[in-house]
Amino acid sequence: MDHLEEIRARIGIEELVGSYVQLKKAGRNLRGLCPFHGEKTPSFMVSPEKGIAYCFGCHQGGDIFKFIQLIENVDFTEAVKILAQKTNVTLPQKLPELNNKRLKSIEINQWSVRFFQEQLEQSPAKKEYFLKRGLTEEAVKKFQLGFAPDSFDQLKNYLLQKGFEPRELIDAAVVSQRSIADKNSYDRFRNRLIFPIFDHQDNPVGFSGRIMGDGEPKYLNSPESPAYNKSLVLYGLNWGKDKVKKEDLAIFVEGYMDVIAAHQAGNENTVATCGTALTPQQLKLIKRYTQNIAFAFDQDSAGMDATFRGIELAQMADVNIQIIRIPEGKDPDECIQKNPEAWKNALKNPISVMDFYFDYTFARFSKQTMEGKRQIMDFLLPLIRMYKREVEQGIYLNRLAIELKTDVRFLWNDLKNTKIETYHSPKANDETKPIERIFSREEFLLGFIFTYPEIYKIVDENLINNIPFDTNTERFYNLLKKGYTLGSLIDIEHVLSELTEEERENISIYNLLIDEKYPDFPRSLIEKEAGKLICQINRKNIEATKRDCQVKLNASADKQDAKLLLNRLMEIAKLEQRI
Ligand code: UTP
Ligand code: MN
Repeated sequence: MDHLEEIRARIGIEELVGSYVQLKKAGRNLRGLCPFHGEKTPSFMVSPEKGIAYCFGCHQGGDIFKFIQLIENVDFTEAVKILAQKTNVTLPQKLPELNNKRLKSIEINQWSVRFFQEQLEQSPAKKEYFLKRGLTEEAVKKFQLGFAPDSFDQLKNYLLQKGFEPRELIDAAVVSQRSIADKNSYDRFRNRLIFPIFDHQDNPVGFSGRIMGDGEPKYLNSPESPAYNKSLVLYGLNWGKDKVKKEDLAIFVEGYMDVIAAHQAGNENTVATCGTALTPQQLKLIKRYTQNIAFAFDQDSAGMDATFRGIELAQMADVNIQIIRIPEGKDPDECIQKNPEAWKNALKNPISVMDFYFDYTFARFSKQTMEGKRQIMDFLLPLIRMYKREVEQGIYLNRLAIELKTDVRFLWNDLKNTKIETYHSPKANDETKPIERIFSREEFLLGFIFTYPEIYKIVDENLINNIPFDTNTERFYNLLKKGYTLGSLIDIEHVLSELTEEERENISIYNLLIDEKYPDFPRSLIEKEAGKLICQINRKNIEATKRDCQVKLNASADKQDAKLLLNRLMEIAKLEQRI
């Protein structure tokens, strides 16, 4: 990895990003307009100290290599080559270790797919889940669905027996690690139904595991790995790319089950992003096959927002967009199962972007109040103004006039005074919201701890962590706890040294988040904020545990079990009083 370090040493993140984006100083960081999504107020932060750049609007970014990958739309190896050229670093003819890591991970994933499939074959009850949800035996085979047994080491042992190294299993992310010592690594997916995720070239790059029944998270996804770049993968495309070309249309849905149900119904031109928001790179990928896309997202407010963001991205990527309203059920999967005819009809009758905007606006704002009417006009007029012909503008203005019960002449007046906007997002005006939506409280708190290590004392004294904790950040908290009890002061450097590179980068992003949200806050306020977060986390975890106990108690037939659960509930009640 020497040449990577060499490159890092020769070019700083601020210099690199600065050659693409105009940056201004903001405390110890720099700030500019994000190159990955359209915005008017800068939310792209660059930290020379940490060597990363990150956008708090669209949540893309990383170190110099990741930045080049994103901005040039290339893979890691290609990014290394570009940067080597920029910095005059001579690379070896081949980049063996880079390619190898990716190939190795794919190979491990291939074996894992096979393992999960075997497990499913051996447990008909689990397979029944898929069949009950309307999948055919053929679909289960085609999508290579599987089952991860309720075990911490069955997959790990299976793969070790195939001759893989423990380190390689962790790199491929099928095995997770609590500490650097390998003996503590364990299977990432346990007691879950498995959806293998393939890239468009048919390589298995990751997995998603669905819980059976209720629980959190519903789908556990592989993290990024040498094989898996989430912003470059569309679930379903490997099976559907020919159909996308043939129909000259790609249908975007939200979920894995939606993709499978649609393929089964004959719409193999259906794809999904895998638990993340649509990215410009995914659109670039689909443009190799078609210029036309249709969004068929869930019928809830999250689906509405996803459609909204998708439209903006797609307009920037210059593809034609249609929207499919799901006529029945909450998502395409439900609709196809309940009423396949309605689904087919909906596909035949997509609505236009402007129709969608009208629906969206009326769902958000009230047509009845003056304030609501103003909001509706502020929202729709700039969009209507974008049409070049008066005839087109007139059609929408008439419709708006009827909806708002006003005279269309007034609207024409307003329209003339409206600025044309090419980019129009209700969220872009509200800068704090996306941050809160995407980062969890646990992540905010980590940002505080790693920025101001002194406050760990408060965390240690107040955070209740012997009840089930947030799975995404649990590992960080365990390491911190370990680092703290070793001495009375926390050794942050030591904790950092136990993290993987990806985890360290996450921590850098959390630090940046704190710089961004709490610039130069006095210590007392920081402590107060941290205290508030701890309190909220405690309350959330206690609630979740209580609910879990209650559910189990209601379902439990065994007296002994019930007694244990009751005791547990009493313990929880005590904890509840403490906070
Ligand atoms: P949904 O909650 O709509 O689930 O999430 P679904 O697809 O309808 O799943 P079923 O039908 O209940 O099984 C939509 C998609 O969002 C991602 C997954 O890709 C999912 O398919 N997701 C959802 C996650 O990644 N993690 C989650 O915990 C939940
Ligand atoms: Mn569903």
